[in-house]
Amino acid sequence: MDAIEVIRAKRDGGELTAAQIDWVIDAYTRGGVADEQMSALAMAILLNGMNRREIAGWTQAMIRSGERMDWSALDRPTADKHSTGGVGDKITLPLAPLVAACGAYVPQLSGRGLGHTGGTLDKLESIPGWRASLSNDEMLHVLRAAGAVVCAAGSGLAPADKKLYALRDVTGTVESIPLIASSIMSKKIAEGTGSLVLDVKVGSGAFMKTPETARELAETMVALGTDAGVRTVALLTAMDRPLGRAVGNALEVAEAVEVLGGGGPADVVELTVRLAQEMLEAAGVSAGKDPAKALADGSAMDAWRRMIAAQGGDPDALLPRAAETLTVSAPASGVLTRLDAYAVGLAAWRLGAGRARKEDPVSFGAGVTLHAKPGDLVHEGQPLMTLHADETGRFSRALEALEGAYAVGPVDEERLPLVIDRITA
Ligand code: URA
Repeated sequence: MDAIEVIRAKRDGGELTAAQIDWVIDAYTRGGVADEQMSALAMAILLNGMNRREIAGWTQAMIRSGERMDWSALDRPTADKHSTGGVGDKITLPLAPLVAACGAYVPQLSGRGLGHTGGTLDKLESIPGWRASLSNDEMLHVLRAAGAVVCAAGSGLAPADKKLYALRDVTGTVESIPLIASSIMSKKIAEGTGSLVLDVKVGSGAFMKTPETARELAETMVALGTDAGVRTVALLTAMDRPLGRAVGNALEVAEAVEVLGGGGPADVVELTVRLAQEMLEAAGVSAGKDPAKALADGSAMDAWRRMIAAQGGDPDALLPRAAETLTVSAPASGVLTRLDAYAVGLAAWRLGAGRARKEDPVSFGAGVTLHAKPGDLVHEGQPLMTLHADETGRFSRALEALEGAYAVGPVDEERLPLVIDRITA
């Protein structure tokens, strides 16, 4: 078989055979198909799509390119959650220990942020001493100690995806539903979780800007998980405005700790509890503890402290703070009708919370704190947001990102409900 034949087949709108898919993924992983050939094929897939059989075959071939983890030695079911990424989306932080406290194990492999959305590992690394890289034995140790582990995926997991994702990032081929779905699901299936809840974000701050495209991505991923024997459910949730009141690494950890302490913003609490219920149901742990009770009685907080400590972190350490702050005030009195998620994410990124290239460092203290959320009444001149940065020179570009991103009016406007839809197989 040769790469040109596979590229031509997809370029001309044809279906790839199972043998073509297996060959091209394997040869690409080993270096037998060149980056420029895989780029051409990724572009042909972006333009012409793949059907359900092709996407399933592509996903399985990427799983087979590396190791598949196995948690069958554990005495309780496993459950995981994946979010397609959003602004202020720190839900994994309270959710993983919460689900552990309610009776399922949570083995979660996470990523770092790139662009305007943050990464869970960057957030957790703002906790002094916390380590993202664990061996499989260390993962098992943390799971047994705390019931949940959140760490970086090792290089042995779906190496074909690692190579292909880096290539897509620089060839304008990220935005393809078959490629996104197979990329996410190859890693989640290889991770070995028995059940999976997908949080597919919708709106300006998300990959998917409309409920229709988000639904297509969710349905594709739910079908892939189900076909691979993983009990999979998806929620479509709002990302037209930021989630919670904190955007930025250490700021988000502090908010997650508030939620684990029984407080925190209503939207973060609501989504954390709902996703926990979905994970426990998918894992078949119906007799476990009620997630709302586990937040109120401190058992989720206990699991968090064990999880952080088992990965070298100090749960009592002071979190890093940015040296400089700037307040943005409400321009008028009325209802805050709009606060655009993408603009706030971009502002946080420009303040130093995110990175432009994979190798860049992040500022742990940088970001945005929101003092009002859409639907809240505000008075002219009251603080609307605080910007946090290590250098004052970063404020002007962040303020530019926020121009036109919020509005105050006499009456509230309609916005997406927090949970828009639920997708099952
Ligand atoms: N996240 C992934 O892991 N892969 C994609 O293709 C997009 C988002």
